[in-house]
Amino acid sequence: MSVVDDLLSLRLEDSQGSRIQDIARHAQRLTHMSSRLRGAIVQYRDQLLRELDHRRTLDRLASRMADGLFLFLADQYQYLDLEEAQRRELRELYRRLLDDFRDWLWTAPQRFTCCPPLSGHHNRLTEWTRRALHEVGGLGWADASDKVVMCGTYSPELQLELLHLDIDTLAQPVLDLGCGREAHLVQFIRRMGVSAYGFDRLVTDAPGVTRGSWFEAPLDERSWGTVIAHLSFTLHFLNAHLVPSDRAARYARQYMRILGALRPGGCFAYAPGLPFIEELLDPREYEIRTGLIFCGTGAGSQPLLNIDWTFTQIVRRKSVR
Ligand SMILES: C[S@@+](CC[C@H](N)C(=O)[O-])C[C@H]1O[C@@H](n2cnc3c(N)ncnc32)[C@H](O)[C@@H]1O
Repeated sequence: MSVVDDLLSLRLEDSQGSRIQDIARHAQRLTHMSSRLRGAIVQYRDQLLRELDHRRTLDRLASRMADGLFLFLADQYQYLDLEEAQRRELRELYRRLLDDFRDWLWTAPQRFTCCPPLSGHHNRLTEWTRRALHEVGGLGWADASDKVVMCGTYSPELQLELLHLDIDTLAQPVLDLGCGREAHLVQFIRRMGVSAYGFDRLVTDAPGVTRGSWFEAPLDERSWGTVIAHLSFTLHFLNAHLVPSDRAARYARQYMRILGALRPGGCFAYAPGLPFIEELLDPREYEIRTGLIFCGTGAGSQPLLNIDWTFTQIVRRKSVR
């Protein structure tokens, strides 16, 4: 392990228990360094300077730190979604932190209480995070609430029941879009001998799963028997539609690509349902089955709770009528 890795671990310990709100609200505690971390910086200064002297090391570190931060943020506010330009900006932000830190280290005093590069970085990070939250309608929430909006995962049985899917009649192959960290449903149906794959930006290593954004999922024309999205792709589409955000158009295009990726007779099964787009589909090409999950409360500040929640199955007809 390098000194940089050791210091990053200490830094992570310092920020244990932090929330996305701390970053969005520029909490002072985030710029605080423990005496252990400050001591290690002073003690290993020469080695650190050597390690930070390589451009490739800095680029690699910046990417790692940016990816780590994004996963941390997305875990706490699940609707966060980054386009390539925003990802690049985040990497550049960390690259600048590393450059500033290395420059500062040359002349840093033997004893210090604050680290100016870290303070500058947190100013920029707060600004970036607020913009990213604003784009997905989450800034008001971050300013007003201390709760997290996290991703739950659900048992395979519950998902199949809620989506009215029968494992014995599932058209194959199956793609679970936004399958969750452990891809429970994918593993469950694979054990039953069904050809199934999962796609999720947080998924860990497991048979048949790929880590990535669902905007990059493999959706060749007529390639899937069943596409499943339980509280995942369509939940985010609904959120983009309701907040409102120009991301809704991107989701709509991807939704149509998913339908195009169904084999004739194939099915896209999802919850929540999306009545605003389902009603635009051509009934000669698609059969739409939907049912109520629960009624909206009709009052409150959360648009997603004010509407009725449905599940939907879109079946691509074998021939256009
Ligand atoms: C509420 S969880 C549902 C997981 C699973 N379908 C279930 O019901 O147990 C939503 C999932 O969508 C994933 N997700 C969110 N945005 C994504 C994106 N842009 N690309 C890929 N996966 C995404 C999250 O990582 C999370 O695992």
